[in-house]
Amino acid sequence: MSRRRLIAGNWKMNKTPQETAAFVEDFAPRVASFFEIEVLLIPPYTSLEPASRQLVGTSIALGAQDLHSEPSGAYTGAISAQMLAACGCRYVLVGHSERRHVFGDDDATVRRKLGSALDGRLLPILCIGETIDERRGGATPEILTRQLTVGLDGLDAGAMKSIVVAYEPVWAIGTGETATPEQAQEAIAGIRAWLSGRFDEPTAGRARILYGGSVKPGNAAELMRLPDVDGVLVGGASLDPEAFAAIAQAGRSVVESE
Ligand code: 13P
Repeated sequence: MSRRRLIAGNWKMNKTPQETAAFVEDFAPRVASFFEIEVLLIPPYTSLEPASRQLVGTSIALGAQDLHSEPSGAYTGAISAQMLAACGCRYVLVGHSERRHVFGDDDATVRRKLGSALDGRLLPILCIGETIDERRGGATPEILTRQLTVGLDGLDAGAMKSIVVAYEPVWAIGTGETATPEQAQEAIAGIRAWLSGRFDEPTAGRARILYGGSVKPGNAAELMRLPDVDGVLVGGASLDPEAFAAIAQAGRSVVESE
């Protein structure tokens, strides 16, 4: 399989620049030889610039948790794609469930943010996922289809080379309740099938699709062994250098065993 596994740590609203520096000092040597996989840190905005300087000479990539859809202007409190790129970011999350549910980002907003990321030469990670009520009501495929349809509206297959999709069931985020391997594989295979229909088979076959939601060192390998899961988006467990390195090691051992 040619899709490079991506192990991403979304720190959410955690760690000062000083705490970030201490994390990187501890974490970077632990993953220094992990060339088989891609490791990505997604700290808060205030840590980006110092972290990017500290990461020079390592293979660890840097990403941001969100961005504004406009390149500049009177948007108090907002951050643009250009600012993130200038701080050393390669990736940016769009449509994380906390942005959708806490901050009210709807699908159209997510689409605009994704476009802004692409315009700013960032690689967007489009996060999608259903709530527990939607799952119980059998609406998971319909919700994912809507989030993909609007989130990727108007894009051509070429744009998918710069886009990662992350399936994060809302009920699995921060709850300790991980999707079962069957649930993760079913949803992610469904996303890949949708991409194949919307674009084409090679595009779908190349697209990287991550799983997120209570990923821990103990379940990461099992998830990354699933045929359609190309990596993980980790929240809580990515705050600890030892735990996050263990998750990266799990990804690496899965690649080595293939
Ligand atoms: P947890 O790993 O803490 O469940 O968070 C997942 C997540 O939201 C990553 O973006």
